[in-house]
Amino acid sequence: MIKEAVIEQTLAQVFDNIEFTAEPKGLYDPLRYMIGIGGKRIRPRLCLTAYGLYKDEFADGILDAATALEVFHTFTLIHDDIMDNAPMRRGQATVWKKWSVNTAVLSGDVMNIDSYRRLANINASALPATLKLFNTTAAQVCEGQQLDMEFESCPKVKMTEYMKMIGLKTGVLIACAAKMGAIIADAPKKDADLLYDYGYDLGIAFQIADDYLDTFGDVKTFGKAIGGDILNDKKTWLLTRAMEKDADAVGRAMALPSGTPEQDKAKIDAVTAVYRDLGIDEDAKYEILKYTQKSMEHVCKIGLTKVKEEMLARYADKLVGRTK
Ligand code: IPE
Ligand code: IPE
Ligand code: MG
Ligand code: MG
Ligand code: MG
Repeated sequence: MIKEAVIEQTLAQVFDNIEFTAEPKGLYDPLRYMIGIGGKRIRPRLCLTAYGLYKDEFADGILDAATALEVFHTFTLIHDDIMDNAPMRRGQATVWKKWSVNTAVLSGDVMNIDSYRRLANINASALPATLKLFNTTAAQVCEGQQLDMEFESCPKVKMTEYMKMIGLKTGVLIACAAKMGAIIADAPKKDADLLYDYGYDLGIAFQIADDYLDTFGDVKTFGKAIGGDILNDKKTWLLTRAMEKDADAVGRAMALPSGTPEQDKAKIDAVTAVYRDLGIDEDAKYEILKYTQKSMEHVCKIGLTKVKEEMLARYADKLVGRTK
């Protein structure tokens, strides 16, 4: 088994020493910038954690696999920020804002390729299964992103449709991170599948928490502009639930004009007030807890030692207890 302290040390080392091609700078600087700022690294952490349930030290190219997950994820963020018109990420200007949309498109593309290049370094025996999983996952993330965008112009989205969308855009990559660690460690298939389910439900909780923080978070810790989802007409968990509870009240607030800084602020404040009135903030917290507990039910079915189960429980708690 590999303990959390070792995983943390290793993650820091890997990302402190990560290298990308030097030139042309216009292509590679944006990726160095985004990886350099550093996010929470929940996906590589989960991949290493799953691997460490079965192995005592990092081998088999697992560090490349973990890095590939973070590089791929960061690529999706660079493109997502163009699609969401987002000015800030990880407390800094987004790539399209700092450079240009064209730069963000191509730097994102090369990052996607970079992630596959790293993944190719894993143990040959695990490569076919890992690649199959990664390919399926990558396509699903795009499918989820497409639904997310299409929902912006849908007047109403059902909770089941919302759940499907976030499962694709967010759940599957976190699930893939857990399963990949298990596959590369040559864990039993049953374990790998249950770890996938654990990651998936955690991913659902994580995206609901992201939606919650987009409205109720603090810009300084969250690192992203607050209220962006409201201005973009995103069908978040908050909006979807509010539509179930009082469609008229939330519909009126969402119909307020936006565009100038004053209008934007007034609209965000009005929608936030409706959410609070309807108790949507508390509902979201409950839902996040529900999916976190659900994630641990899959873990219980694996039959791990208590120490290992507790490690996965700590990972889950940390993930959803987040403020950033
Ligand atoms: C942001 O992911 C996109 C979502 C799936 C909510 P993270 O919250 O993991 O972003 P970073 O990597 O820590 O910046
Ligand atoms: C992003 O969802 C999911 C992916 C990047 C695939 P969001 O659009 O909610 O993520 P943030 O809030 O910008 O990080
Ligand atoms: Mg988005
Ligand atoms: Mg976004
Ligand atoms: Mg978000």
